[in-house]
Amino acid sequence: MDAQDKRQDRPESKISKSQLRRRRIILLIPVLAVLGALFMPVSNLIFKPTRPALPAAKLADVVFAKAGPVMQHKCLDCHSDHTEKPWYFSLPVAKTMISKDVTDGVAAFDLTDALFGPGDFSQVQLAQIEYTLNAGTMPPFRYAAMHWDSTLGRDDDKNLRSWIIDVRTKRFAAPNVAPDFAGEPVQPLPLTVEADERKVALGDRLFHDKRLSSDDTLACAGCHGLDKGGTDQAQFATGVDEQLGPINSPTVYNSSYNHVQFWDGRAADLFEQADGPVNNPIEMASNWEQVIGKIKDDPYYQEAFAELYEDGMTEKTIRDAIEAFEETLITPNSPFDKYLMGEKEAITDEQRRGYATFVTVGCTSCHMGPALGGLDYQKMGKRGDYFVARGTDVLEADQGRFNVTEKEEDRHFFKVPILRNIEVTYPYFHDGTAQELSDAIEQMAIYQLNVRLSEAQVAEMEQFLLALTGEYKGVPLTEIEPAG
Ligand code: HEC
Ligand code: HEC
Ligand code: HEC
Repeated sequence: MDAQDKRQDRPESKISKSQLRRRRIILLIPVLAVLGALFMPVSNLIFKPTRPALPAAKLADVVFAKAGPVMQHKCLDCHSDHTEKPWYFSLPVAKTMISKDVTDGVAAFDLTDALFGPGDFSQVQLAQIEYTLNAGTMPPFRYAAMHWDSTLGRDDDKNLRSWIIDVRTKRFAAPNVAPDFAGEPVQPLPLTVEADERKVALGDRLFHDKRLSSDDTLACAGCHGLDKGGTDQAQFATGVDEQLGPINSPTVYNSSYNHVQFWDGRAADLFEQADGPVNNPIEMASNWEQVIGKIKDDPYYQEAFAELYEDGMTEKTIRDAIEAFEETLITPNSPFDKYLMGEKEAITDEQRRGYATFVTVGCTSCHMGPALGGLDYQKMGKRGDYFVARGTDVLEADQGRFNVTEKEEDRHFFKVPILRNIEVTYPYFHDGTAQELSDAIEQMAIYQLNVRLSEAQVAEMEQFLLALTGEYKGVPLTEIEPAG
């Protein structure tokens, strides 16, 4: 008997029964899969996780009372360590996925202190929330698939936006801003700052004094020319003996708006910062003893220090005077500032569109506040590997904040540079590789936001950034004469 005959011998009914069973099982799989897939989200609707209650004191604010609960119910699970995990957290795959969301979420953005602690939302946090609303990225899709009541409805979006504008208006609006713009992420600079004029004049003299360097060839102004946007307009700084430094010179204009000083934030403030260049062997290559030895007999300094400081001329008082001078290096009255102060015609339509794009694509999530930056550390290459694309060796200066903290999570993080007067502070980036502003804009969009801008968008944004050139002592920065 061959195989064909054997098969024919089998009873008809038995074959169809087993086929039927198999078919049933095959049919059951999708049904079970659908039920299984529904089980977790449905259980999430029924057994709502208990999330910590918002403090009554914060809810007393009527605007926050509408926005706070949105964050409490739709954001907190991944943006605070303090929330209860769902029952399926004990399942192996779910546990890994949820833990990763929470670890990444909290690292990117921690809501705990602002919602529950004594702290309040910072300008940076508000701008970051605004960015996720514009980008529609939060809560992440995978979470929304499991938590059907977590997607942001139209009212949620509206309540969060109204609250952001309200907090900005109450806490971050510049005194000279037009009421319409009080809730903007960018604010005008003040027209004047209070200062002790004698101290400022002394600091100005010191800032321009070449005797602060070992061979009397280089003043602070040599690398931070007030006629060059407060920089040297070169890729890297050149110190005494023509020594080339490893990093681009940032501007001293508006540097008092930086939350820390230097690209990697290693100086807490301008007073601390002023110690750096004098002692840096490839910058001024000197030390305070040597500097004081050289300038102490200068009659101007003798008189000024004696008058202003009980201690006379010391390392500390020199640094204090330089700091006082730097605090006056603000550049108000740019066309964009005039616009924010209510002069609607101060900028062109193109510049207005450029600003709108700057906000909606998310540049303001890092470049915000009166100086458009300086308030935060951020990774160069947050959403794309800038250093691989650059194609040259990654050097010590490229490590940024990591050099100070030696923490892996700080690698390639830099203090976000301020964008005021960007027209004259070229070339751009810590490595000075972007010659053209349009180039810097395109690269930022790609590596920080994962967005490809159209040519028209880049052009409009460039026009907007050119509207940020302000005035120092009433003179536009493009017209300042070199110091004599
Ligand atoms: C499932 C967890 C999860 C939920 C829920 C969630 N987030 Fe996030 N969030 C993340 C993760 C992960 C990141 C970091 C990765 C990223 O930026 O995509 C992040 C990043 C962020 C950032 C930083 C963005 C940036 O560019 O650095 C903000 C702001 C933010 N979330 C706000 C929110 C808000 C507001 C909500 C509620 C409407 C929310 N998140 C809900 C997981 C979550
Ligand atoms: C040889 C050129 C050079 C000289 C001279 C020099 N600087 Fe700088 N300055 C730089 C460079 C380069 C940086 C950035 C260094 C870094 O971040 O690692 C910098 C950073 C700064 C910053 C921080 C700005 C920011 O955005 O973080 C300030 C403020 C500053 N310098 C002021 C001064 C003062 C004051 C003097 C004189 C005492 C001085 N500089 C002398 C090149 C120079
Ligand atoms: C995630 C934060 C982040 C976002 C978003 C972001 N930037 Fe930046 N921006 C930075 C950091 C950090 C640097 C410094 C990078 C470096 O020097 O390596 C920088 C540098 C710049 C510079 C050069 C400044 C200088 O003096 O060298 C320009 C111009 C700039 N950004 C414009 C933009 C524009 C336009 C957008 C939107 C398309 C944008 N940025 C979005 C963080 C950000």
